[in-house]
Amino acid sequence: MEKILVLDFGGQYNQLIARRVREQKVYAEIRPFDRVSLREIRETAYRGIIFTGGPNSVYDPESPHYDAGILDLGIPILGICYGAQLMAFMAGGTVLGAENSSEYGKTRLFCEAHPLLRDVPRESICWMSHTDFIGRVPDRFSIIGKTQKCPCAAMADEKRRLYGLQFHPEVTHTEFGKQIFRNFLFDICGCSGDWNVLDYADRAVEKYRRKYADKKVLLALSGGVDSSVAALLLHRAVGQNLSCVFVDHGLLRKGEGDLVEKTFRGKFGVNLVRVNASARFFSALHGITDPEQKRKIIGREFIRVFEEEAKKIGHVHALAQGTIYPDVIESGKGQSAVIKSHHNVGGLPDVISFDEIIEPLRDFFKDEARAIGTKLGLPPALVWRQPFPGPGLGVRVAGEVTREKVRMLQEADAVFREEVDAAGLPKTPDQYFAALTDTRSVGVMGDARTCGYICLLRAVSTDDFMTAEWTRLPYEVLERASSRITNEVPGISRVVYDISSKPPATVELE
Ligand code: XMP
Repeated sequence: MEKILVLDFGGQYNQLIARRVREQKVYAEIRPFDRVSLREIRETAYRGIIFTGGPNSVYDPESPHYDAGILDLGIPILGICYGAQLMAFMAGGTVLGAENSSEYGKTRLFCEAHPLLRDVPRESICWMSHTDFIGRVPDRFSIIGKTQKCPCAAMADEKRRLYGLQFHPEVTHTEFGKQIFRNFLFDICGCSGDWNVLDYADRAVEKYRRKYADKKVLLALSGGVDSSVAALLLHRAVGQNLSCVFVDHGLLRKGEGDLVEKTFRGKFGVNLVRVNASARFFSALHGITDPEQKRKIIGREFIRVFEEEAKKIGHVHALAQGTIYPDVIESGKGQSAVIKSHHNVGGLPDVISFDEIIEPLRDFFKDEARAIGTKLGLPPALVWRQPFPGPGLGVRVAGEVTREKVRMLQEADAVFREEVDAAGLPKTPDQYFAALTDTRSVGVMGDARTCGYICLLRAVSTDDFMTAEWTRLPYEVLERASSRITNEVPGISRVVYDISSKPPATVELE
């Protein structure tokens, strides 16, 4: 299989680069610069290498560097932003930094005629985000593009097939970014573009069929996209030897548990065990108001229930998980602080004995997993399911979690989602839901005084959920949702809209 190596120097766009390559039907894998040796690169016979950007300056002693021998492997290399500066530095050029030389945002790019820039007009728009710049290109390199401020926006060493771009072709604001990737992949690296996510998935099914035909496989199904697609892939491979355990903690959204059961057992005939454990979760959560404690309890009970069910199945050969590629990539950036103890259904229980872990989606991005799910016939409601926290509505009910509060929230949330979906917005928010505050307020219904809970509506727009903007939903949508919720959901007397972004707030209430 033709492969491109994306050598990660800590750039924020590393995944975007790999996505751009895969869009051209060429397989790309991201490896942190310090986890892959020159020898491994040589032996893997990559068709091409891309150096990502990164936040550092090449002269900073802490900045990531790589063995300069990589430039002489005979493999074409495209350096982007920091990656281009590093290439210049490694090849003997000079990188400079000056306050007034930095560029940020859409910038006019002037190009020379060159194979890397084939079909890119002499003048176009590119996306810049840098402070340092290449002041003197190394020997054997020539400048093939510039901007008003940047004397070397693109450079090339024809003989060694080394190329550097100061701008970001992977960002859509660069008008001809896709064309530059095509030129690099097909004309320069000689790729044929025969990789296809669905063929790849078919081959994976064949492989699993051969390997696990008569072995028992266990999977924790959450109803989320990743575990659902993993379950269907494995079901195609090993059929009834796959057992899926679906722990229904009673904290799912309205109708969700039934949809999962209907889809997997009903439509696909998957060997599914649905454990209705809500009583156990509500009793464990009784009287608990601290958010961290609630999360811990839900996580702990979840694992216990899963283990109990798994034990009934007996020894399994493999435990399957819905890990996807972004979970696997360890970026060059290092660890960030843990703000909340995230609980993921895929977390490894330590009591079940198994010989192997299978992660059928570990090479795929989320949208690729969705494409596979669609092909396998997963209903759109599951394929396009928005992110939902493992602890479920437990973190959307502030204060003590009771059956009654969860029921109210399920109704309010269903109304809100229905109204947002029906509005046909030009861009759907990336996550939108209702939450229940722990505060009651006075209201009036007919002539009577009421005292119900305050329900909070939240909608956010984000790329990565690390930061998020509150979405400017049209007033009409908010008005319809508010009036329906107060009319249709007994116990809620007031509705508010959350206008906090992340940071300083988080997406979830708790
Ligand atoms: P926060 O609230 O941390 O949420 O800003 C960011 C994103 O993560 C989701 N989230 C979770 N996902 N287990 C998960 O699998 C969790 O415990 C969890 N908590 C929050 C949240 O829905 C949002 O998409």
